[in-house]
Amino acid sequence: MRTVLSVEKGGPDTLVYRTDAPVPDPSDNEVRIRVLAAALNLPDLLLIEDKYQDRPARPFAPGSEVAGTVDAVGSNVSNFRLGQRVMAVTSSGGLAEFVCAPSTKVSTIPPEMPFDHASALLVTYATAWHGLKYRGKLAKGETLLVLGSSGGVGLAAVELGKALGARVIAAASSEEKLAVAREAGADDGIVYPSGSLTSQQQRDLSGSLKALAPGGISVIFDPVGGEYVEPAFRSIAWGGRYLVVGFAAGIASLPMNLPLLKGADIVGVYWAQAIVRDPEAHQSAVAELCDLYESGLIRPRIQSSFPLESSVEALKLLSSRRATGKIIIEI
Ligand SMILES: NC(=O)c1ccc[n+]([C@@H]2O[C@H](COP(=O)([O-])OP(=O)(O)OC[C@H]3O[C@@H](n4cnc5c(N)ncnc54)[C@H](OP(=O)(O)O)[C@@H]3O)[C@@H](O)[C@H]2O)c1
Repeated sequence: MRTVLSVEKGGPDTLVYRTDAPVPDPSDNEVRIRVLAAALNLPDLLLIEDKYQDRPARPFAPGSEVAGTVDAVGSNVSNFRLGQRVMAVTSSGGLAEFVCAPSTKVSTIPPEMPFDHASALLVTYATAWHGLKYRGKLAKGETLLVLGSSGGVGLAAVELGKALGARVIAAASSEEKLAVAREAGADDGIVYPSGSLTSQQQRDLSGSLKALAPGGISVIFDPVGGEYVEPAFRSIAWGGRYLVVGFAAGIASLPMNLPLLKGADIVGVYWAQAIVRDPEAHQSAVAELCDLYESGLIRPRIQSSFPLESSVEALKLLSSRRATGKIIIEI
């Protein structure tokens, strides 16, 4: 089969396009999927650079979310039939013609949802939904700040924050990126500096956020980290929840007096682990997301699509910090 393999640690240029890789056999609890679309996510880059918490044995194909049709099922799998339209979380292996996934991470696709949208529904929306609804308990009428609001997870959080009835403040590193978040429904926006922040820039960012939300921000959704954390946290409301989602700009430290002074919670959001620990909750969350999609409240924004043989180019676009929305590999 055709695939793109990581054969050594490094950036996208270390990937090798192959046409003769063996088709994987599903184990007893797995479903083999003929992949028609795979969506890229920042963890795919971290994985090939050995910077992610998972370390699959090489050679492996990156690609953690796919959509396609059921091609084979393991001996213990009875809830899927051949040819059925499905989407799945795969951790790795998605940039290939075929991939196997545990049946607990496979879900059926509603009839009117195209494969490219389905491939982009799980990692970003399910992470944002798990974070906002189940970890952050975002309530109607509360104020939500989304950092990195035009990225994959961030843009999903903007849409889902609106769907939950919050006032959404989007933050991003350029006006162009902010415009994307506004199109997705953000009520207000703020542009932050894209490089290293001076102390003055951190104070300015905190001041601007406080001006936008004088009563404080109820929930902060943070897939960015780095030097944005402290100024963002300083704008949180009493009793607020700071959702630690990712570290695109690095892992931050925070003075521990701040959560005390704000009576606020720092809440870890680890969706990939949560769905392993509670697969039934995962399937209910996917059903909720499909309902939101069918009612038009969420719609994956596909920035660009690439063929499998151009995966290196696609991953370079993702690593450039220029991407707004999802990059899809069509197979
Ligand atoms: N906790 C979980 O369960 C979970 C699940 C999925 C993903 N994640 C994590 O969430 C983070 C974002 O993932 P994603 O797929 O949404 O990524 P993405 O589409 O690349 O978006 C990341 C955003 O971070 C901002 N950013 C700031 N500094 C950056 C840098 N040095 N390089 C790249 N982007 C930078 C960018 O927005 P601005 O330019 O506007 O700042 C960018 O839009 C990653 O750390 C990922 O591992 C966590």
